[in-house]
Amino acid sequence: MIIEPRMRGFICLTAHPAGAEQNVKNQIEYVKSKGHIEGAKKVLVIGASTGFGLSSRITSAFGSDAATIGVFFEKPPMEGKTASPGWYNTAAFEKEAQAAGLYAKSINGDAFSDEIKKQTLDLIKEDLGQVDLVVYSLASPVRVHPKTGVTHRSVLKPIGDTFSNKTVDFHTGKVSEVSIEPSKEDDIENTITVMGGEDWAMWIDALKAENLLAPGATTVAYSYIGPSLTEAVYRKGTIGRAKDHLEATAFEITDSLKDINGKAYVSVNKALVTQASSAIPVIPLYISLLYKVMKAEGVHEGTIEQIQRLYQQRLFTGNEVPTDEKGRIRVDDWEMREDIQNKVAALWDQATTENLAEIGDLEGYRKDFYNLFGFDYENVDYKAEANELVNIPSIK
Ligand code: NAD
Ligand code: NA
Repeated sequence: MIIEPRMRGFICLTAHPAGAEQNVKNQIEYVKSKGHIEGAKKVLVIGASTGFGLSSRITSAFGSDAATIGVFFEKPPMEGKTASPGWYNTAAFEKEAQAAGLYAKSINGDAFSDEIKKQTLDLIKEDLGQVDLVVYSLASPVRVHPKTGVTHRSVLKPIGDTFSNKTVDFHTGKVSEVSIEPSKEDDIENTITVMGGEDWAMWIDALKAENLLAPGATTVAYSYIGPSLTEAVYRKGTIGRAKDHLEATAFEITDSLKDINGKAYVSVNKALVTQASSAIPVIPLYISLLYKVMKAEGVHEGTIEQIQRLYQQRLFTGNEVPTDEKGRIRVDDWEMREDIQNKVAALWDQATTENLAEIGDLEGYRKDFYNLFGFDYENVDYKAEANELVNIPSIK
């Protein structure tokens, strides 16, 4: 079939397999161009099919020749209906890994469930024995709690007061004023339950209980802080409470891994265009201005540049892992540079529908958004027939 982007609101309902393959190949090329990383050799990535998790899987495999197991929740294709992007990304990743002689197997299902944890543990037991790195990169709006069966939904809301500020509809370029109502009390609890650290700790406990973590194993989860401009809706909002919880959980996990000398880290990453961040009001305007400034300064990065730098310059240098005063790894350092933030803040005050295409990187935003779904890659012929029924080799 001929596959075109089909938009509904802020999501795209279709994905292009050839574009997804191009995305994966580009990331592999980048990692290879930066040289070998003396990193982990047996790696479990939870949330491995898109965004930071996919880049983590690629960096482990093609930067350190690691065997990888990836867990994710993606929609397989059906006749006449495309898969979700992470399905095609993983199909392409496994193909490239196989060609390079690297072990790669994948599990598609709900990572919050006991059943998917058990499947993953069994696969590690059978094929790898133990893992020495666990990357936790889930982003989900919902979690069915495995012990209670209760469905929790996360929300992106300010806490306390209504928050009003500028935002942009990146499809039309229209800048407008938006107001977001504050959370209700159970919104905070629910968001912490979905995006906080409980499930990360459950994974690590389950792995450890079955002796599947190698001595000195590392685990890393991803967080975000951001500037004062977005604070009310992000870091001081409901999602920020979940990130506080995630960051606190790192210390508890490290404590629980003392006897194997293991360590848990949170890495604070930079703001990037993803399906999730496009849906948060205010954030797309911030990102389009941030991209403009960071590109002009020559310090713009995507997920692969971020994770490659995280591995090569933070996690696997052979020296102690550098952290901030709260024990967090920072690869948002360039985003948060004072000169960069001052420039973004000045542009923020000026931004209007009329000037945003000029003073912001609306084009870069849109391109990154389309790229998430495998569209808008130079080397792909979108007029050609594409086979939507692509298999992930390790999934029957
Ligand atoms: P993403 O949406 O690209 O990736 C999410 C992954 O989780 C996918 O592989 C998806 O299949 C998987 N997933 C979702 N629900 C699942 C479930 N129930 N079971 C199994 N797999 C499931 O998201 P991302 O932007 O890469 O985010 C990953 C982490 O990085 C999050 O913690 C996020 O907060 C953090 N982060 C994001 C940004 C940003 O700007 N996007 C910045 C800093 C940190
Ligand atoms: Na991810």
